Amino acid sequence: MLSEIDHQLLHVWGRRLRGREKGAPRIAVVGNCQSFGIAYGMKLLVPHAHVDRFTIVRKGVTTLDMLAKTLAGYDHVFSLEFQPGFVHGGGWEELKALLPDVAPIPSIVFSGFHPGTIYILDPTRSGYPIEGPTGPYHSAIALFAYLRSLPPVKLERRAHELRFPFGTPVAMAVWQWFNFTPAAELQRSPADGIARGAYLVTGLGHCGECHAPRNRWSAPGNRLEGGAMPGDGWFAPSLHPGPGASDEPAQTVALLRDGINARGVASGPMAKVVLDSTQHWLPADLHWAASYLSNLPPDPAPSKSPEADPTLRATGVRLYTDRCADCHGADGQGVRGVYPPLAGNPTVVQPSILTLIRVLDHGGFAAATAGNPKPYGMPPAMLSNEEMAAVLTYVRQSWGQRASAVSSLDVLRYR
Ligand code: HEC
Ligand code: HEC
Repeated sequence: MLSEIDHQLLHVWGRRLRGREKGAPRIAVVGNCQSFGIAYGMKLLVPHAHVDRFTIVRKGVTTLDMLAKTLAGYDHVFSLEFQPGFVHGGGWEELKALLPDVAPIPSIVFSGFHPGTIYILDPTRSGYPIEGPTGPYHSAIALFAYLRSLPPVKLERRAHELRFPFGTPVAMAVWQWFNFTPAAELQRSPADGIARGAYLVTGLGHCGECHAPRNRWSAPGNRLEGGAMPGDGWFAPSLHPGPGASDEPAQTVALLRDGINARGVASGPMAKVVLDSTQHWLPADLHWAASYLSNLPPDPAPSKSPEADPTLRATGVRLYTDRCADCHGADGQGVRGVYPPLAGNPTVVQPSILTLIRVLDHGGFAAATAGNPKPYGMPPAMLSNEEMAAVLTYVRQSWGQRASAVSSLDVLRYR
């Protein structure tokens, strides 16, 4: 018995023999019922494209080899990641081995009870279903199909814009001579111990790119003592242990893995580091990196700053109660795992107020991680310079904290 896919293959071969496929971009969609929607989307935006569907529903005589040979004649192939058993000789994995350019289409489940609803199974979260309306789904695949159908563009390589002598190899060699030491011992990739932590933090992790202040030649220093990031307006704090911190390594591991710990969250550029890098590290690597950091020489205890002027403080209390306490709590205690505490939060008492201003002005967005899959965001606070100064002074000098007060001039300078 011939099945649907057998007929479709025969049809395509017949057409090719008769030479009726000239000029138009050729697109193939391999899938079950989902292939209808996707083929439809392709045609909608690229009417002149030649779109063929191959249905993976019932086994016939088609072999994987025959399918791959047919698909090789297309400019773009989209395929469901189908199981073996629909064509003779294998499934998606084997097809991908024969045709490396084939693009996977997401697994989609249509809701039988609510025809307007679909679920996309998220491959980055082991198939967790994302619910959505059918309309945007069709638009999204149509757009995707359209973009894939555009012919590649040849981009001329742009010449660099560095002034003489900075663009010359000689200048680079001079810079390297002064600032670059090839780290021979780090290249050996130690398997464990503090040396592994050093290898990850100072080598592969590139933590110093942000956390080590740059010298006047713009080369990052060796000490992870914290500094303002050039251009970005964020302050990457010191990674040396704070005075008297005993649970430091466990907290650092949690921050790097989940993007949140008992004391605060990773925001801004650090949220991106967690999102793209550290959440994927092996547990042992996180442990050794944190141990390495906790073995750095501790930072000196900050001296207690003088208490702020009472009127500034009074404005701060009022603003905090109105605008912040709902989430961060009247005593700055936060809500565990949801809203970070502001009491005992190292970001809040940092010498630099850059990160605080960035978070309040732009809002805060933590990284989505396995340990904190749906982080809450913080809306931008919309405060004047005076209000920002008052509320920051209040949080920096409450609940036993005594960091420097903030003036509206400081705020103006960093905004
Ligand atoms: C709607 C709830 C909400 C309100 C209101 C709110 N925040 Fe937040 N805040 C959050 C959340 C959620 C985060 C964590 C998100 C992030 O920064 O990545 C956060 C983060 C922060 C951080 C960064 C903490 C860290 O560990 O890096 C600071 C500082 C902060 N908030 C201060 C304030 C101040 C001051 C106010 C009042 C002007 C305020 N927040 C109002 C929810 C809120
Ligand atoms: C792209 C710049 C960048 C890189 C690279 C980077 N960080 Fe960060 N990091 C920051 C910024 C900015 C902050 C402050 C924001 C915040 O408090 O969330 C921060 C905060 C932190 C904190 C919280 C410190 C505290 O006291 O609240 C830790 C721990 C940390 N980083 C560790 C690391 C480690 C380990 C690496 C290397 C694997 C790394 N960072 C790489 C920019 C960076």
